[in-house]
Amino acid sequence: MTALFSPFEIGSLALDNRIFVAPMCQYSASGGVPGSWHLQHYGALAVGGAAAMSIEATAVSVEGRITDGCLGLYNDVQEQGLAGLVQHLRRLSSIRVGLQLTHAGRKGSCHAPWDGGGGLGTEGWPLIAPSAIAFGQGRAVPKAMEAPDFKRVAEAFAVGARRALRIGVDYLELHLAHGYLLSSFLSPLSNRRDDAYGGSLSRRMRFPLEVAARARAEWPAGRPMGVRINCHDWLDGGLSFDDTLHICAALKDVGVDFICVSAGAVVEGVRIPAEPGYLLDYAARVRKATGLATRAVGLIHQPQLAERAIAQGQADCVAIGRAMLFDPRWALKAAISLGVQAAFPRQYGLGSPRSWPGAAAALPGY
Ligand SMILES: Cc1cc2nc3c(=O)[nH]c(=O)nc-3n(C[C@H](O)[C@H](O)[C@H](O)COP(=O)(O)O)c2cc1C
Repeated sequence: MTALFSPFEIGSLALDNRIFVAPMCQYSASGGVPGSWHLQHYGALAVGGAAAMSIEATAVSVEGRITDGCLGLYNDVQEQGLAGLVQHLRRLSSIRVGLQLTHAGRKGSCHAPWDGGGGLGTEGWPLIAPSAIAFGQGRAVPKAMEAPDFKRVAEAFAVGARRALRIGVDYLELHLAHGYLLSSFLSPLSNRRDDAYGGSLSRRMRFPLEVAARARAEWPAGRPMGVRINCHDWLDGGLSFDDTLHICAALKDVGVDFICVSAGAVVEGVRIPAEPGYLLDYAARVRKATGLATRAVGLIHQPQLAERAIAQGQADCVAIGRAMLFDPRWALKAAISLGVQAAFPRQYGLGSPRSWPGAAAALPGY
């Protein structure tokens, strides 16, 4: 058995292997409700051999969307639509399904990436953030959050968690990364408050921790709740990796079960030096410091790299993003290339290398 294809458990979540499909926005919802695109996209991924899959960033409120095409979980129609998507996936495979809850904060109210991804301007909706600082050029200046906003957003995450439980996902993931609302509280570059929610690290993490605690209170004990976090900001004066270690320890104290160590822009234009496995060392240090189940992400596109990361204890699991978009069967191919029996869907069984000796050499990519 390889490390990558060994089973793992996070609370009651039993995983057949260590591979997650990373959450990836599809910007294709209508009124926050999934449609045909989501059925085929997640359907293909569900039979691709990964143990688990995170449904993309799903907004907890209408203002918390990045674009008009983002999924939402703040009304009954959305809840029904997402429940239908989860049932569809259950009929296809036993992949574990999670959902990522988010609020876009000052990175909201944008065009879809294929329309340039810029701010919607006067056609958009009002934004909120820790401080009244725009994310970048052409982006709206958000309102600095006031007491009722804190109450409303925390409640929206709690309600979102309750709805996620009702649609029957196996795990919950909170988005504390990539400069969205909760992440923007953590970074001193986007949080310039001088009240109880800004300034020192303990104040900057106060609201994200309150939200995590509210979601945890709705989410059953044993069923995992994880968090995605930026390892640091890649900018002077930004969040440091030491800060991140403290934040992860505090998240553990409020009942977070796993951490996905990620990277993404808190400020427009930040350059993140990306190369294969570039976040693995950070994941390893989070794992060692906190003892929490840790998921690594970031250009882990070679099965051998993923195998080494798990075998060497850098992470407990890996999340694969873009490679899954181009090849939803990434995990099946990884199994074959590591010499492990791949869990081919039975409909494809006759095409598997085991049924067709020599196929591994003949089929491109196997
Ligand atoms: C199309 C696309 C959409 C994404 N949407 C999300 C998202 O909804 N939530 C999130 O946390 N990260 C999102 N990401 C980041 C990925 O989850 C992942 O962290 C990133 O792509 C790096 O992993 P990779 O090198 O394997 O692609 C997205 C990435 C892509 C390419």
